[in-house]
Amino acid sequence: MDSVTDDFIIPQDWSSYSAVDHATWDRLFARQQAMLPGRVVPAFLKGLDVLRLSKPGIPDFAELSDRLMHATGWQVVAVPGLVPDDVFYEHLANRRFVAGRTIRRPDQLDYLEEPDVFHDVFGHVPLLTDPVFADYMQAYGEGGRRAASLGAIDKLARLYWYTVEFGLIRDGDATRIFGAGIVSSRSESVFALDDPSPNRIAFDLKRVMRTRYRIDDYQQTYFVIDSFDDLLRQTLDADFGPIYAELDAAEDLDVDRILPGDRLLTRGTQRHARARTAR
Ligand code: PHE
Ligand code: FE
Repeated sequence: MDSVTDDFIIPQDWSSYSAVDHATWDRLFARQQAMLPGRVVPAFLKGLDVLRLSKPGIPDFAELSDRLMHATGWQVVAVPGLVPDDVFYEHLANRRFVAGRTIRRPDQLDYLEEPDVFHDVFGHVPLLTDPVFADYMQAYGEGGRRAASLGAIDKLARLYWYTVEFGLIRDGDATRIFGAGIVSSRSESVFALDDPSPNRIAFDLKRVMRTRYRIDDYQQTYFVIDSFDDLLRQTLDADFGPIYAELDAAEDLDVDRILPGDRLLTRGTQRHARARTAR
């Protein structure tokens, strides 16, 4: 991935954003900033601060990367949308986070077909200022190359989904959100913590890698890590090769399945999902 043509990186072209684009960012930012204290892991709020993300308007990736580079050696680069898995892994392994440059329309504040710059930057980048989380993301990229060579991308992708996108974390006696898909969504930042519908289960690596996920609605199960240290240790120390082989023989688990061995923090009513299906 050394050549400049196959890395999918494009200029952010910050000066081409309209006043409406910047105003959309500001509205989304204000909504989440009001919502998150007490719900999100403290490291996220610290990241907003370190990166000066409260400055109005869509962040300029060059400026953002300067601050992030200083904090943990990561950069943010613009790409045209979703990129191939191998490109994505290669960037992560080199501490480059790929982000979309476009922002949703003002009439779509809560509705997203594809990640936009608000999800990618507000959702993902603040935690990259946390040294342990930053190392986890790099390790994930390296793990991705390996998973690709072992035909196990689907299993590794579930780990990303249930941690980086939709993860919950213990904070003393409380549970907080940290996944980017949650922290960038006004309604899911409430649902994931407070709604009686979803299961909340203590993180277990193999269990997570067996669990399907849904991309069209709130999750029916969230997994709760103890700490970023614990997540990094569990994933870095484990040799995923034998785990992938073992899981090939195991059945995939449905999104609402509860196993006898699960450390269940909340047994969900699944009311939300049932109401959806019944429509
Ligand atoms: N330890 C994993 C492997 O052997 C790599 C990895 C680390 C994957 C951290 C994800 C997160 O493949
Ligand atoms: Fe994302």
